[in-house]
Amino acid sequence: MCGIVGYCGKKDAGNILLEGLKKLEYRGYDSAGISIIGESSIKTIKSVGKLNNLEENFALSSISGNIGIGHTRWATHGEANLQNAHPHLNSKMTISLVHNGIIENYLDLKKELIAEGYEFKSNTDTEVIVQLIDFYFKGNILNATLNAVKRLKGSYALGIISMDNPGELIAVKNNSPLLLGICDDGFMMSSEISSIVEHTNKIIYMDDLEIAQLNLNGKYKIFNYNLDEIEKEIKIMDLNTNSISKNGFDHYMLKEIFEQPHAVKNLLNKRTIDKRINLSDNFFSKEEIEKFSQIYIIACGTAFHAGEVAKFAIQKLTGKQVLCEIASEFNYNQKFVDEDALVIFISQSGETADTLMSIDEVKKIGAKTMAVVNVENSTMTREVDKVMYCYCGPEISVASTKAYTTQLANLYIVALDMALKLGKITQEELETYVDELYTIPEKMEASLKDLNVYKEIADEIKHEKSIYYTGRGMDFTSAKEGSLKLKETSYIHTEAFASGELKHGSMALMEEGTKVLTVLTQEHTLNKTASNLEELTSRGAYIYAITTYDNEVVSKNSKKIIRIADTMDIFAPMLSVVPSQLIAYYTSLAKGNDVDKPRNLAKAVTVE
Ligand code: M6R
Repeated sequence: MCGIVGYCGKKDAGNILLEGLKKLEYRGYDSAGISIIGESSIKTIKSVGKLNNLEENFALSSISGNIGIGHTRWATHGEANLQNAHPHLNSKMTISLVHNGIIENYLDLKKELIAEGYEFKSNTDTEVIVQLIDFYFKGNILNATLNAVKRLKGSYALGIISMDNPGELIAVKNNSPLLLGICDDGFMMSSEISSIVEHTNKIIYMDDLEIAQLNLNGKYKIFNYNLDEIEKEIKIMDLNTNSISKNGFDHYMLKEIFEQPHAVKNLLNKRTIDKRINLSDNFFSKEEIEKFSQIYIIACGTAFHAGEVAKFAIQKLTGKQVLCEIASEFNYNQKFVDEDALVIFISQSGETADTLMSIDEVKKIGAKTMAVVNVENSTMTREVDKVMYCYCGPEISVASTKAYTTQLANLYIVALDMALKLGKITQEELETYVDELYTIPEKMEASLKDLNVYKEIADEIKHEKSIYYTGRGMDFTSAKEGSLKLKETSYIHTEAFASGELKHGSMALMEEGTKVLTVLTQEHTLNKTASNLEELTSRGAYIYAITTYDNEVVSKNSKKIIRIADTMDIFAPMLSVVPSQLIAYYTSLAKGNDVDKPRNLAKAVTVE
């Protein structure tokens, strides 16, 4: 999704902005641009497509200056072209603005401004904001911005520069992430820490309805919307630039797949001490758990699949029913959550608009909330009662991998903690589960050894029009995750079916050579799913099986078998997903796709 960056300081802004934008590339974008305050006017360059185009245009220009803003745009209002690319300027070209978010009342505001004689060049909601600031401008950009943003409905993080206040950069936000970097030579602002970390580790996280005035003289002030100055904590972050490098791998996705064993081990080390669960005040007490009337899990995409696995685990270990819903569906449907419910949100980025919206909805009801999140200090972590971090380091590839397996590890710990506190398992049983969890990293490593099998499968399926994934119970969830991974990276149509549901319609799709990937890791459904394989092969399906079992029916019906290490059934989703991730990765490569940045997708989905 869109990313914004800004700089105000002693150095030349151009390259700092371009480097900052490169760090935001992975979020997904289709055009980019920068504006810099020059000697006598604001200089703006925009380009459609990859950032190289912007860099080339910048290299040909002689633009320099100490204050500037930059943007990568993921088109929402209007196609990806130069007119719609940010920054947007007022008609007098004296104010320039970059925006991340969506303004819901932009059409009303636009009509109002047109009636005042304003003209518009783009189809964006963003141009309305800059013209509105112009409308309120009486010589002070801070005041004009404040008056304008008070009229906006929706989400925004804005960076604003003005030729009439040439020593200032204004940053303001509501419902979109924005943070400030306090550098030795000045200030930075950005949608995320990755573009700041090279310059400073001193970070201020801006909250909603706050506005910052960053000055070239090295001073800064942050106000609320009543213009009362507020003190903000400067956090010292220990993120280093290495954690966002490819570290010798060709792509982030592959690096992140390979990081999983270490990431899971690291998480387990943080969550357990001497085989005991160690959540300190990160989780709820026995009394609180006993009082939960319902348990809900809400998330999107891969995080939702982690939630579905957790549903099985919590139900099995505690006997309590769990309801799992996709955030965008939950938000607009009838709600049965009550104030004694526990609602668990899961998100890599902590910025997913749909999930954040669900948190708002659930908080209105008064339910208890907790979030499993990777990005530290992200918006979600500030909205819920309790937070469990994944601690897997920055996940850059759009396709989520290590966030998923560390989300699972966290959620297994939650399930075990609840079961123990509710007296559903003994400390001895808990230790058996924890011992097994500690074997998972090594068992994941085993799936990372021989990559040829994944490359071969990728080669066999790369020209297919459709590929199907099947499984039952937890394996169906793993099938859904495998299918999503393959779809988003390969652009091949994929779909996951519950094995038992095939006969109720989807079997009609099977014909000679149809490729089907099946997950079989659950003892209680193994024979049933194996029989479904017979039915599939009878109709000509070409089966690849990802399994923990050495089963005769599975062997007879599968063209290729990917054996994963044996584990307790409940933990198998952490292992069965690794081959699926690698098949998706190599299929994307075989098709010549941009594996880390699949088309039309964004890493942090900050709009609904
Ligand atoms: O940041 P989040 O975990 O909240 O993001 C949710 C989904 O957008 C994300 O998992 C998406 O489905 C990934 N591209 C899947 O690989």
